[in-house]
Amino acid sequence: MRNILRLALVVLALMAVAAVGIVAYVYSGIYNVAATRQHTAPVYWLLTTALTRSIEVRADDIVVPDLSGDDRFHSGLDLYRQHCSQCHGAPGVAPERFALGMTPLPPPIVQIGRERSAAEIFWAAKHGLKMTGMPGWDFKLSDEEIWNLVAFILAIPTLSPVEYYDLTGTAPNPTEPATDQPLGNYSGDPDRGKVALRQYGCIACHQIEGIVGPETWVGPPLEGIGERKYIAGVLPNSSQNLVRWIRNPQGVDPLTAMPELGVTEKHARDMVAYLYSRNDP
Ligand code: HEC
Ligand code: HEC
Repeated sequence: MRNILRLALVVLALMAVAAVGIVAYVYSGIYNVAATRQHTAPVYWLLTTALTRSIEVRADDIVVPDLSGDDRFHSGLDLYRQHCSQCHGAPGVAPERFALGMTPLPPPIVQIGRERSAAEIFWAAKHGLKMTGMPGWDFKLSDEEIWNLVAFILAIPTLSPVEYYDLTGTAPNPTEPATDQPLGNYSGDPDRGKVALRQYGCIACHQIEGIVGPETWVGPPLEGIGERKYIAGVLPNSSQNLVRWIRNPQGVDPLTAMPELGVTEKHARDMVAYLYSRNDP
């Protein structure tokens, strides 16, 4: 009996020390909230697993209505362009610049359409997601409108960029991006490049070695890109061509689903320096 009491006291004391430690840590300001800093892999896992499980559990008993029909699709398309594409992009269309700087990054809509069920998309859109920047749309849209959005989002994985431009009448114009400042033969800073690959939203579509991010399969993983003979199957691999692809993918291949993200020449060179540095033999 005594021993149990003693054990309980020790456990309580340890918990008190841990609680003081946590409060001291929070107050000290040591934790860096900068959106430009990546999460560590365990923290990222914790956050995404909690988010995914929370959505799955709550969506479980939602009854999905009939989502077929052109009316739903077209209403969903209009609503999507008004309220969602700014953050989630669209086939061949980049999100707005502000959204590329968000942590967590809004996932590309094609990824959501492929991996989430109708009920899950409905629940997340209606209630929003705490501490991510994803707004809740209850009080702004009716349930019927949210189901129209769901119907459209589930159809997105079957739409090519060209079909999306046809539907919306907005072709992106693959103009050659302006060069910002003369860079001479600046060969790029891999450390800046590593941050830039997150800050331009590349990791929403590509898994990139050394960068913590979603398990995405929208674009090919970029591991080993330095070894590849062709970039996206069209350009011979060189640092100059890789910069060209990153800045102007649709100028190289008008059919590609990789959007133009407004990358400056300097940042593109930084990205290439990082991507190639992963392959040094
Ligand atoms: C201000 C930017 C923003 C806007 C606008 C926005 N979203 Fe989001 N959305 C996010 C972010 C950030 C996340 C969470 C990313 C994460 O951590 O998974 C998210 C997540 C989601 C998810 C859950 C995806 C998943 O797999 O976890 C769905 C579904 C979704 N958004 C649908 C929509 C719809 C539909 C609209 C328009 C009505 C919309 N979003 C508008 C930023 C936005
Ligand atoms: C919305 C999704 C999306 C985003 C964001 C995106 N990409 Fe891509 N990317 C793709 C797709 C899809 C392909 C395959 C293109 C093709 O083959 O036509 C691709 C291809 C590539 C390739 C060629 C890969 C190979 O195996 O040949 C590179 C390199 C690349 N992207 C780099 C980047 C960089 C750097 C960024 C950020 C500035 C970025 N991408 C942002 C979707 C995306």
